[in-house]
Amino acid sequence: MPRLLSLLPLFILSLANITLASNSCIAFDISWNLLAFGFSGKDYNAGTQDTWTSSGNPTDITTQGRPPFDGANTTCYLSQFTNAIYVLGADSAKPSSIYIYDATAKSWSTQDVSTDAGIDPTNFAAILDHDTNVFYAYSKGELFSLDMELLKAASSSSKSWNDVQKLAFDTDGYKPVMALAQNHIHFLGVPGLPDGSAQIFVIHFSFLQPEPQSYGNFPNTHGQVTSLFQEQGVQQEFAFIPDDGSATYVINVETNTTQTLKGPTVKDPFASYFASVDSIVQLSSSGSVAYLSYNVNSSSANSAATWNVISKLPVASTTSTGSTGNGSSSTGSSNSGSSNIGSSGSPTSTGNAQSSSTGSSNSALSIQSQGLFMAAMLLIIVVVSQST
Ligand SMILES: *[C@@H]1O[C@H](CO)[C@@H](O)[C@H](O)[C@H]1NC(C)=O
Ligand SMILES: *[C@@H]1O[C@H](CO)[C@@H](O)[C@H](O)[C@H]1NC(C)=O
Ligand SMILES: *[C@@H]1O[C@H](CO)[C@@H](O)[C@H](O)[C@H]1NC(C)=O
Ligand SMILES: *[C@@H]1O[C@H](CO)[C@@H](O)[C@H](O)[C@H]1NC(C)=O
Repeated sequence: MPRLLSLLPLFILSLANITLASNSCIAFDISWNLLAFGFSGKDYNAGTQDTWTSSGNPTDITTQGRPPFDGANTTCYLSQFTNAIYVLGADSAKPSSIYIYDATAKSWSTQDVSTDAGIDPTNFAAILDHDTNVFYAYSKGELFSLDMELLKAASSSSKSWNDVQKLAFDTDGYKPVMALAQNHIHFLGVPGLPDGSAQIFVIHFSFLQPEPQSYGNFPNTHGQVTSLFQEQGVQQEFAFIPDDGSATYVINVETNTTQTLKGPTVKDPFASYFASVDSIVQLSSSGSVAYLSYNVNSSSANSAATWNVISKLPVASTTSTGSTGNGSSSTGSSNSGSSNIGSSGSPTSTGNAQSSSTGSSNSALSIQSQGLFMAAMLLIIVVVSQST
């Protein structure tokens, strides 16, 4: 009981601080260091895969100019040519601004972006094309583009989303799942497509292929996607995790084949994913981070691989202080004992997630996430109280 009582203030503090993990995002730099942004008011570099389950601490890279990470649907993208991370939706006061993290200089800047062409900055899914460094975003049945040139710091002039075209497939009620490989946008889960197929938009010709392309075996349903990078050159594979988390599909657009790998331990339709050359990483809506090791040359190694928690990172929860600084709350409050959440706290919501290429979450998640966190904290308290 004494230990139970000592946990209670922690519990209350945690409830006051938590909003939702979808304010956070994960990304890789070009040396495949895992970057974690907006984790309890801090940003971290967790290093490369070989160090994630070691006892070391991540490097605190929190610095000035970062966004407040208080947006409901924060997404991150790696610009491989510039080693910059583009962060969208991380500032509720400036929803259309793009924050740029220069991973070489370790500095932030803010790009002013116009949405006059009609994109809804609170409702879209996007990919960043590898070769052109142009964003393509789906918003309400329409495709938009935004040329990031080779920016690793914001331009002094404003940039604009441009209207590309209305997509010529049935977009009525379509929740976009946009995957990038070989400079083609692969729309998955399009109503009426056969299983294992994608509707392809060819970026360089601004052309929607009329016939779907078949890639093998995966369900034609909503889920999350992330492209697997190559050391150099355009991505040729992407991972698709359906909302039920039943499997991780890796689709190769050169061979037109699909590998079926283990689904994440945390089944979470609101999770987001980011892949490097050798890892597929999940950030769950409760803030836990886990990965599946991936070998581009070995499907047998891939099918044997299991998901593991990245214990080096704290569980993400964001502070609701509204400040853009480093946050005054203790990160300890959200870390303590909460590594249990990742393995035991699988959300089982059947709600429909909005999607984006790197994952985004619905605002309803706030409630779900808090409920989940409370449940996990109660579980910890029960376990602790029973063991004392
Ligand atoms: C977050 O995404 C959901 C679903 O697309 C949307 O309804 C909501 O308006 C978004 N919120 C913000 C602040 O972008
Ligand atoms: C993959 O499919 C495309 C389109 O049908 C085809 O052009 C290409 O040759 C196929 N690749 C392989 C390796 O079969
Ligand atoms: C995969 O194979 C290619 C070609 O043989 C090789 O260059 C690359 O290093 C291999 N990658 C891994 C992770 O084994
Ligand atoms: C955040 O912390 C870092 C290192 O402690 C410091 O250099 C930076 O100025 C702080 N940023 C803000 C906005 O307070």
